[in-house]
Amino acid sequence: MKTGKEEILLESLGQMKRTHDCSQLTAKDIGKEVVLMGWVQRRRDHGGVIFVDLRDREGITQVVFNPEFNKETHQKANSIRNEFVLAARGTVATRPEGMINPNLKTGEIDVMASELRILNTSKTPPFVLEDNTQVSESIRLQYRYLDMRRQVLQKNLVLRHRAAAVIRSYLNNLGFLDIETPFLTRSTPEGARDYLVPSRVNPGQFYALPQSPQIFKQLLMMAGFDKYYQIVRCFRDEDLRADRQPEFTQIDMEMTFVTEDDVIAVTEGMMAALFKEALGVEIERPFKRLTYEEATGRFGLDKPDLRFSLELKNVSDIVADSEFKAFAKVVKSGGIVKAINAKGCVDFSRKEIDDLTEFVAIYKAKGLAWIKVRADAWQAPIVKFFNDGEMEALRQRLDMEPGDLVFFIADQPKVAHEALGRLRSRLAEKLGLINQNQYNFVWVTEFPLVEYDEEEKRYVAVHHPFTAPVEEHIDRLAEDPLAVRSRAYDLVLNGTEIGGGSIRNHQRAVQESVFNALGIDRETYEKKFGFLLEAIDFGAPPHGGIALGFDRLVMLMAEQTSIRDVIAFPKTQKATCLLTSAPCEASAAQLEELSLKLRTLTG
Ligand code: AMO
Ligand code: AMP
Repeated sequence: MKTGKEEILLESLGQMKRTHDCSQLTAKDIGKEVVLMGWVQRRRDHGGVIFVDLRDREGITQVVFNPEFNKETHQKANSIRNEFVLAARGTVATRPEGMINPNLKTGEIDVMASELRILNTSKTPPFVLEDNTQVSESIRLQYRYLDMRRQVLQKNLVLRHRAAAVIRSYLNNLGFLDIETPFLTRSTPEGARDYLVPSRVNPGQFYALPQSPQIFKQLLMMAGFDKYYQIVRCFRDEDLRADRQPEFTQIDMEMTFVTEDDVIAVTEGMMAALFKEALGVEIERPFKRLTYEEATGRFGLDKPDLRFSLELKNVSDIVADSEFKAFAKVVKSGGIVKAINAKGCVDFSRKEIDDLTEFVAIYKAKGLAWIKVRADAWQAPIVKFFNDGEMEALRQRLDMEPGDLVFFIADQPKVAHEALGRLRSRLAEKLGLINQNQYNFVWVTEFPLVEYDEEEKRYVAVHHPFTAPVEEHIDRLAEDPLAVRSRAYDLVLNGTEIGGGSIRNHQRAVQESVFNALGIDRETYEKKFGFLLEAIDFGAPPHGGIALGFDRLVMLMAEQTSIRDVIAFPKTQKATCLLTSAPCEASAAQLEELSLKLRTLTG
């Protein structure tokens, strides 16, 4: 390759051996002869002396090429450019007065080069390999191997490794067994679409990639393994977001002869060990617990962020008979009216309120009513509809004081809660109420077993169909499935769902009643899950477990906002890999072999 006039001769390592990492050298090493190898982060030419920041996984050392020290090496260093791969031998020296860099671990020393080997050149990278690089994510993903040379990503992936190591060691010490489960399998229902893999030797038949190892881990309990875990890839074909990837990793666990409290205790212990050993952070235990009803009622969402308060208050009883028809009508038709008091926000502009109204509309709210509490009067178009008694009751319930701005949403509970829950988080962000240095864990328990799916016009499992109903509710499964609570629990960290699990059905009768409640008839469940029911018949023990979203967990630990930043080779929102250009077309021969015909080909 040519740079300028000179041809650069590439050299081999030969017998040269690396003696230190680029992060290692300190004042203690002064006078030593060392060999460093790495990439050129930066090269500067200061009046004939060349300074190279040499980078490897662990850090950076400044290597100095001084013609007075070694003429030939200095000559060679002229051709160095960013991202060249070098081996440099030299002597560790103190930096001159005033040149010490306290921000760099190796900032007290330089390596005065006596020998240089250029092991490879590099094209100019398509973006600057610095932490705050200003480049689109698609370019970063296309050149992911360059992107990952940046310190942030190096740090994130090292943290991910450490986290996995701590978790394995914690679970191994408790006697958990790491057992692998198949990727080529049957559909495991976790609520997403399956990725299908055609079988060549069974024409017209397909494997499904597992949405989770759910059924296999239950079978392992039935096989007598007692405690299982796996840090395992799961595959879900669903709409992607910042915290969702088509393939992602779970810390998957299952235990025999346990109740909710046992699974919760093991998980809390694991989180405490993880945060202590990987981040040096002590987390408070036991974690808070909220039932689903409390979580949604007080915070709007089943993944409440408890780093700030701004609780929702129910005012349905107060406004039910008011003159404000938008509220009264909703209450009469079985809906609710709930409110949030945004303390001190009385000066929000019309535009700010309009923006928030548009925001709640995303979550299907039909409006956002508000009242500004001024010292002399309440200010809002809806105030005229309330009488003195109603106003006094609202004032007390919502603790309305001069300076406050209260928001109301009237709707069916699901919509009102979700919209106000999102508004709550939005307001907290806007008002800077979130303590970014806090890790706030909360368990959400007693989820409903089923919910009604408006699109599919049937009941679907809130968790998955193997989750057990609470014992006292088993009788209600047939006539009132919506009232049945389940033995499911989610773990939430700072408003992100990082895990979910449940106690499972281990008796045929109960499992069958759940299938029935979900409108799955015997023929269908026997066909899809007959093998599981049969296994249950051979002495299935009581069992339960949990799976934690490992990517989400590491994302929060690394203080990132997207799980893509803690995954080495993530996919885009459209589930593509920009580096390898996957997915791609299959050749005609491959399709033929798989007995597949594409409709686009046949017309
Ligand atoms: P669940 O479906 O709740 O439970 O998944 C467990 C956790 O996995 C994470 N997660 C995801 N992370 C990234 N991208 C995705 N597409 C994605 N989907 C889920 C979440 C979630 O809390 N088999 C059950 C567990 C059990 O019952 O033991 C299961 O998979 O953090
Ligand atoms: P309207 O009487 O429809 O003009 O509404 C008066 C105010 O009440 C407006 O600010 C609307 O955004 C609000 N509003 C209307 N319907 C609802 C609702 N279901 N929940 C909350 N606010 C609403």
